[in-house]
Amino acid sequence: MRHKTRHRGTVITMNWSTALDVKTRVAVGSGARQKLTNVLAQIGAGRRVLIVCQPSTAVHWLRDIMATLPSEDFQVTTLEVPDGENAKTSEWLLRIWEHLEARGFDRQDTIVALGGGAVMDLAGFACSTYLRGLNLVLIPTSLLAQVDAAIGGKTAINLPTGKNLAGTFFFPKAVLADQEVLSTLPPKQLTCGLAEVIKYALIEDTVAKGSDYEKGPRALLDIIEDLVRDTYDYDDPTLAGLITSCIKMKLFVVARDPQETGLRRILNLGHTIAHGLEAETSFDLSHGQAVAIGLAQMTKYAVGQKKLDKESLERVKEVLIRAELPYEIPKGASKDKICQLMNADKKRSGDKIKLVVPHTKLGTVDYETLLPVSDLAKLL
Ligand SMILES: NC(=O)c1ccc[n+]([C@@H]2O[C@H](COP(=O)([O-])OP(=O)(O)OC[C@H]3O[C@@H](n4cnc5c(N)ncnc54)[C@H](O)[C@@H]3O)[C@@H](O)[C@H]2O)c1
Repeated sequence: MRHKTRHRGTVITMNWSTALDVKTRVAVGSGARQKLTNVLAQIGAGRRVLIVCQPSTAVHWLRDIMATLPSEDFQVTTLEVPDGENAKTSEWLLRIWEHLEARGFDRQDTIVALGGGAVMDLAGFACSTYLRGLNLVLIPTSLLAQVDAAIGGKTAINLPTGKNLAGTFFFPKAVLADQEVLSTLPPKQLTCGLAEVIKYALIEDTVAKGSDYEKGPRALLDIIEDLVRDTYDYDDPTLAGLITSCIKMKLFVVARDPQETGLRRILNLGHTIAHGLEAETSFDLSHGQAVAIGLAQMTKYAVGQKKLDKESLERVKEVLIRAELPYEIPKGASKDKICQLMNADKKRSGDKIKLVVPHTKLGTVDYETLLPVSDLAKLL
């Protein structure tokens, strides 16, 4: 009795900490998708597997993936969600939950996300929240998803007020990044993925300084310049090397800072502008195109702030042009509206927004820059 009285109304302070001990198997290279059954066996997955995909990817790859899952071992169901960003809605999140519930999925069962970044984000969110988490396996089919969206455990859907506003951190059990699936990717989408590859090049030195990522003998930016000098295709060996380097870079950054409290912010270079642009253009600009403009604008801002020389800006523009990516804000887009949208960005805290700004030389950035929101127009 005395014991109870003593604790009633008493503030108890407890310090508790945990290490995020996350294990993700990452297979990169031609034929990586064939490892799906092995991976499911390794993680002790249950019999039920839901493959979430989009029509434009399903038509090429769904049967191929299903063929790797023997029917005596797995009960495979599929759910096609609408193409592109139209999938990343609360409506489709609910449909996935309902699908899982109707078929009795339990926590040993698996969602396989087969598609571009939009599918990775939606299926990952559904997977992280249903029964507080099933097994998640990602088979990214766009270049952008292979080098970025499938790596690092961020999931999201969009809300009417902005992109990726509802989401979770949830790590997949495996990522199978197979260059062969890029063979059906429309050329424009391959180009869009290159925007994220260029982003990695523009942060490479700072990542190498702050994580276990080791630079190769040549800077990523030099290698990209070689790639875009001529025409290239999905199976270009130079592209294969770039994909592996970008994946490694992101894995090392995320290992150092899984929940984006420091170094991981570096991956947002150009993204505050990009998210504003995507929404302002009602997603006419793809994520990759918007990121390309964001990279150029942030480089231009850095030059204006005397943090970088003009030649660096010319070099960034040149590589974007050769990669057939835009570098300027489209004429019809309202800068005021983009500023309003940037103001709603997750990176805002009070009346300041945290930005990643290039400085000194390409490859080096400061990821702690605080800009008053009243100065956002200076970025455009
Ligand atoms: N979670 C993260 O860390 C993260 C990181 C970067 C981007 N993203 C998100 O990823 C999305 C962008 O990803 P994206 O550029 O892959 O776009 P996307 O997912 O919209 O795919 C682009 C189009 O290509 C099609 N497609 C994809 N692979 C194909 C293939 N192999 N063959 C034929 N068609 C194919 C898709 O169906 C879609 O129509 C955005 O929603 C963005 O917010 C998330």
